[in-house]
Amino acid sequence: MKKVPTLVRAAMAFVILYGFFAFGIAPVTKALVGTAAPLPSSLVLMYSGMSAAAILLYVSLREERWRDFFRPVVRFLRDDEPPTRAKRFARAAVLVLLPPAAGAWAYARASAPPEPPADPPGIHFNLPDKYAAVENPLPWTEDNVREGGILYTRNCAMCHGDAQDGNGLFARAWQPRPANFRDTGTIAQLDENYLFWRIKEGGPGLPKGSIEHRSAMPVWDGVLTDDEIWKIIMFEYTSAGVKPAKRK
Ligand code: HEC
Repeated sequence: MKKVPTLVRAAMAFVILYGFFAFGIAPVTKALVGTAAPLPSSLVLMYSGMSAAAILLYVSLREERWRDFFRPVVRFLRDDEPPTRAKRFARAAVLVLLPPAAGAWAYARASAPPEPPADPPGIHFNLPDKYAAVENPLPWTEDNVREGGILYTRNCAMCHGDAQDGNGLFARAWQPRPANFRDTGTIAQLDENYLFWRIKEGGPGLPKGSIEHRSAMPVWDGVLTDDEIWKIIMFEYTSAGVKPAKRK
């Protein structure tokens, strides 16, 4: 019987391993423990990469196996005596098509499909009762607004943006994104006590089952004093150029 070429054997070993990672692990784990192990494609890629490395290691252990491994490639790349047209053509086709194919594969993996924003801005929650009667105790003076601006720049601008537009340095890291206070859907629709609640309790203070696990909005209670929060609120409205909505 003719020996199967090393390249073909290596490729078969790889395909079998890949097939097991991609399609076999889920049913096997399901049969063993009852639930299919979730397997992200990046993990399958990593396992496959390690398998490829192990196969190459095995193939390169012996000199003649290594040479045998590359023989089909060398034979394909080398001209026959006398050179044949068909082979030249096939070789040129492979060498021309390979780079774009690799590029297309990498592009398809790296480019994210367009998705609508998961959380449209302007979704607001019911104000907790304990904040219903809260009032801003400070007057809207220039000094208070300016102090609020300093506090805003120190504590909030990295997310909500220097221009209050929700485009701070770290804004892209979060989903939902930091609120854009210039958007008419955010603070212009809200009253000061709503902002006071949101700033004091942050994301974790939101109703259960909403976005409380995903919101990056920090809890400022204990970090900023109540007066500091009020000053920031006055600064936000003033510099975003909008007024608090009237209370119902
Ligand atoms: C780590 C980033 C980050 C920082 C820092 C941050 N925020 Fe936020 N903030 C968010 C995100 C994300 C949201 C949107 C999700 C949400 O509503 O909880 C948000 C929402 C808000 C809202 C609610 C707006 C609305 O329309 O409901 C207010 C008010 C707010 N932030 C004020 C502030 C203030 C004031 C500071 C500084 C003291 C601050 N934030 C600091 C990330 C941040």
